[in-house]
Amino acid sequence: MFEAASITATDKPGLYTELAQQARGLLHGEKSFIANAANFAALVYHALPDINWCGFYLFDGDELVVGPFQGKPACIRIALGRGVCGIAAVERATQVVADVAAHPNHVYCDSASRSEIVVPLVHADGTLLGVWDVDSPHLARFDDADRAGMEVLCAEFMRAAGSR
Ligand code: SME
Repeated sequence: MFEAASITATDKPGLYTELAQQARGLLHGEKSFIANAANFAALVYHALPDINWCGFYLFDGDELVVGPFQGKPACIRIALGRGVCGIAAVERATQVVADVAAHPNHVYCDSASRSEIVVPLVHADGTLLGVWDVDSPHLARFDDADRAGMEVLCAEFMRAAGSR
């Protein structure tokens, strides 16, 4: 049984490095995508301070559909180009939104969310798996250190989850 060690780092780069190591251990040897995605979401949700939702939106060939997550029930389908998730998917670039209320395209799932980061998940062959979305009840919760750390964490997930 995997038991996540408590995070000892006090700085963001260190925190994400430890989280990436834990993710590698947690996902190692398991081939089930759903099991890995669900455990990854649970690991991050309980390790990162000041977040109220984290999870996957997976591309079904047409639009994004909610996948394994932690937090309150969320919007199920998001069209490409719509919402912060849909923009990240189309632009294939991480989106950091300091104030979701000021974002013209933000899709509300949990009214508690104030800021958000979305990382696109792209297979090595260039096809879109989906996006990884993390919400916070605090304004400007995510900065460049979160962007860099979250991208490393997502790269770890893609490696472990069997990217094609
Ligand atoms: N806020 C997202 C939608 C997903 S929820 O935050 C879980 C967006 O604008 O794409």
